[in-house]
Amino acid sequence: MTPKKYIFAPYHKTMKNIIEDIKQLSNKYLEDVISIRRAIHSNPELAFEEHKTAGLIASALNKYGIENEKGIAKTGVVALIKGKNPEKKTVALRADMDALPIRELNDVEYKSKNDGIMHACGHDVHTASLIGTAIILQKLRTEFEGSVKLIFQPSEEKYPGGAKVMIEEGVLKKPSPELIFGQHVYPDIEAGKIGMKSGKYMASTDEIFLTVKGKGGHGALPHKNIDPVIIASHIIIALQQIVSRNARPDMPTVLSFGRFVADGQTNVIPDKVEIAGIMRTFDENWRKKIKEKVTKMAKGIAESMGGECDVFIDQGYPVLVNDDSLTQKAKKYAIEYLGEENVIDLELRTTAEDFAYFTQQIPGCFYRLGVRNEKRGITSNLHTATFDVDEKSLETGMGLMAWLTVKSLL
Ligand code: NI
Repeated sequence: MTPKKYIFAPYHKTMKNIIEDIKQLSNKYLEDVISIRRAIHSNPELAFEEHKTAGLIASALNKYGIENEKGIAKTGVVALIKGKNPEKKTVALRADMDALPIRELNDVEYKSKNDGIMHACGHDVHTASLIGTAIILQKLRTEFEGSVKLIFQPSEEKYPGGAKVMIEEGVLKKPSPELIFGQHVYPDIEAGKIGMKSGKYMASTDEIFLTVKGKGGHGALPHKNIDPVIIASHIIIALQQIVSRNARPDMPTVLSFGRFVADGQTNVIPDKVEIAGIMRTFDENWRKKIKEKVTKMAKGIAESMGGECDVFIDQGYPVLVNDDSLTQKAKKYAIEYLGEENVIDLELRTTAEDFAYFTQQIPGCFYRLGVRNEKRGITSNLHTATFDVDEKSLETGMGLMAWLTVKSLL
């Protein structure tokens, strides 16, 4: 054996062994992780009320000897796995835990037992998958250097979001992770595949509440009233010009108003109209300008027509930006683990995620886990009463995240 071979051969052998080990462990623990997912799925809890879920996470981690702490950001759980030389570098992994106020329509044995609450956004899958990753990394902890911080985050669905609260409570300190990974189920792609996008990926989100005030009265005598329905209609139409005339054509911007309440009658003009909607975009400066424009335009139009408009804009999550260099590396690692045909390039998405707060602090990579199974009819969209996943995706989810972590700790 030449010295050159002697130096290089063991390195390749080790990494090859680790990838095989991770695949074997993902397969070995798949049944356990599926039962954890089903337990969480049948006991869904709303934002910041995830007490049972937190208990379930802690007991699963305890079972495998993984050090953890409950009660961060009320119902969050944080765990730490120490490899060799644990101070060297820390990688953070995040899963969200909360469910939605939706009544489940799936006829499955793990159907929600909490009427009107459902894991319709797959956070049960994220949590179970992260427990699976934790089990794998705990088993392989003598194979990597550094530490892994596992962040089980409450309340992704509801402002202000658990991520912000966890960061305020110091989740990114002691030890401070250098980078963070998170994943989200994606019914658009088949189980076994994942999707990634570097740079800007998900939108900022804000909620807009407008109250248009006029003077109500008899519908047959409009000249005696100030009609808030007409004013509100003008406002809705005019605001779309922010999207079509003020937004840069290469800057996606969405203003959608799903609530328009004018509680009059056929012959009664009401005193006020309430409008509510959302605003999404991909640039923080432009986001501030949209808010100013919405306020100025809504108030100006109302005043010019003799009425008034109160504007309240509830600040939501920021733009989610995947770190370029980290995401490019992650894509390469994902191809090593899953094969090129199973790693898909994603496009910008105008939904929002509070993982964005983590990406404002440290380099982050948030990617999508395919959960669709066309043959078995598992195709429902997120946030619907029939959403479900192909649970085989958990094997991909937990294994890939373990692989990304080990590679990032080299
Ligand atoms: Ni979600």
